[in-house]
Amino acid sequence: MPARRLALLEAMGVTVYTRRGARPVPAAVAGGQPETAGWPELAAAVAGCTLCALHRTRTQTVFGTGDRQARLMVVGEAPGAEEDRQGEPFVGRAGQLLNAMLRAAGFARSEVFIANVLKCRPPDNRDPTSEEVAHCLPYLRRQLELVSPRVLLCVGRIAAQRLLGVEEPLGRLRGRVHDLQGLPVVVTYHPAYLLRAPTEKRKAWADLQLAMRLLGDGDRA
Ligand code: URA
Repeated sequence: MPARRLALLEAMGVTVYTRRGARPVPAAVAGGQPETAGWPELAAAVAGCTLCALHRTRTQTVFGTGDRQARLMVVGEAPGAEEDRQGEPFVGRAGQLLNAMLRAAGFARSEVFIANVLKCRPPDNRDPTSEEVAHCLPYLRRQLELVSPRVLLCVGRIAAQRLLGVEEPLGRLRGRVHDLQGLPVVVTYHPAYLLRAPTEKRKAWADLQLAMRLLGDGDRA
């Protein structure tokens, strides 16, 4: 049975018996409690998630992509139209710029793990609501635990504020190292903003260099 249907049935409280040897999906995960999930269970839970209204308007969920043992993890806000179509984060114009920024820092896209706070696209790319974030954040938190990166790069105000639980504007969050339960976090401008304000790229590069120094990769680029 496809993982998505399995997760949906589990979420509805329907017990599904899987073939002997097949990996079961814990009901708690399919019901939206991913704290103890492994990668397959987490992916299935996200794919079948109906915890907020965004599941009605999405084409598909956008789980995250890249190296699941990455030293650097990148977190953005939410999928846009192109990401919703392709099922992968940062594949539109902003994604092209993010790839270029990572390349400049010495990373292939496949070497980092990239995810968003929200796994579904908000209609018209509006800001995520508090309720949507509350439902979705446990998935990202579990991804962070599973990847266990050495450094987290938050791109954009929403990702930074929601993950760090602060209200400060991005200009005050960037340029320094934050602590997320022992994980060093660097905040920088969202690439979509940098497309509109290219003169800020210099500051974004300084933020990336800060992340590289934390990784001990100062000479990598
Ligand atoms: N913006 C984001 O924050 N995430 C994406 O995946 C695409 C655009």
